[in-house]
Amino acid sequence: MILFGFSSYEQITQQLTAASICQSGHFAISRFDNQELCAFVQQPISGEHCLILGSIAPPDEQALSFMLLAHTLKKEGANKLTAVLPYLAYSRQDKFKPGESLATAWIGSLLKVSGVDQVLTVDVHSERDRELFSLPLISLSTADLFASVIKKYRLGDATIVAPDNGAISRCEAVKNAAGMPVVATPYFEKTRTERGVVHRGPIGNVGSRVVIIDDILDTGGTLISACEKLIAAKVEEIYVLVTHGLFTGSDWKRLQALNVRKIFCTDTVPLHRDFEPMDVSVLSVVPILQEGLSSLTGKGTQRAIASG
Ligand code: R5P
Repeated sequence: MILFGFSSYEQITQQLTAASICQSGHFAISRFDNQELCAFVQQPISGEHCLILGSIAPPDEQALSFMLLAHTLKKEGANKLTAVLPYLAYSRQDKFKPGESLATAWIGSLLKVSGVDQVLTVDVHSERDRELFSLPLISLSTADLFASVIKKYRLGDATIVAPDNGAISRCEAVKNAAGMPVVATPYFEKTRTERGVVHRGPIGNVGSRVVIIDDILDTGGTLISACEKLIAAKVEEIYVLVTHGLFTGSDWKRLQALNVRKIFCTDTVPLHRDFEPMDVSVLSVVPILQEGLSSLTGKGTQRAIASG
């Protein structure tokens, strides 16, 4: 396999190629004077299985560059093309709402017409994403990685809490992986109103130490609302485990004042911001991607692949 990694994922690209799972591919994206994008594949790739590692999240140039490179690799004769999108942007636009875009389906179609044969991601947002995609969508699970954090930071006695219904299965996968007792996961009923996130709960028993597990921390609205409710339920210490740290805006920094001791997120979204004073620990998804990529060649196990 030949891996074409965009510069924002340079470190992950280097680690994957150093592990001999794939060779490094050479390409360039540039613009003509009139600002049209152009992709250059700088090596023969005919008959090869090519991987593109990058993002289709805003700025929109990322999605356009990704798809143009995919189209160019197929035009140059790539036998198979796998889009490695550690964070699958647009995956939350997965609900049928009258008059509103269904961007998950749109992104799936765009990737397909650009020549992508399959998508490899980490902790896909929902099962609906898979149904809406018109090409195979493989989601790698962070359950083992999060379980290792729970063990390392001695959080095994904390209550694992889901900030909404969608997170319950994620929490249960982590509890299983960490060998924690099989008890119902306390959760919140979450609704989004014009005034923001509204939570009802926690539904279920919570102790004084809590670990909240979710797939995305975007603005932090979900977690802020959940933490406020947890404090009202006498929770003193909160830890947050999220897969994709978008950290949009600065509201999420309020979490520190809401008894959040530490946020753990992975490096599926490259982080460039200054996270002071909030304590954020970034976990590498390279071992998960290594195992996922090995599975594509039939050399790995299926352990890392879960249903999202
Ligand atoms: C929603 O279903 C997701 O799982 C996250 O809870 C949500 O997208 C987080 O967004 P924010 O941080 O803006 O509330």
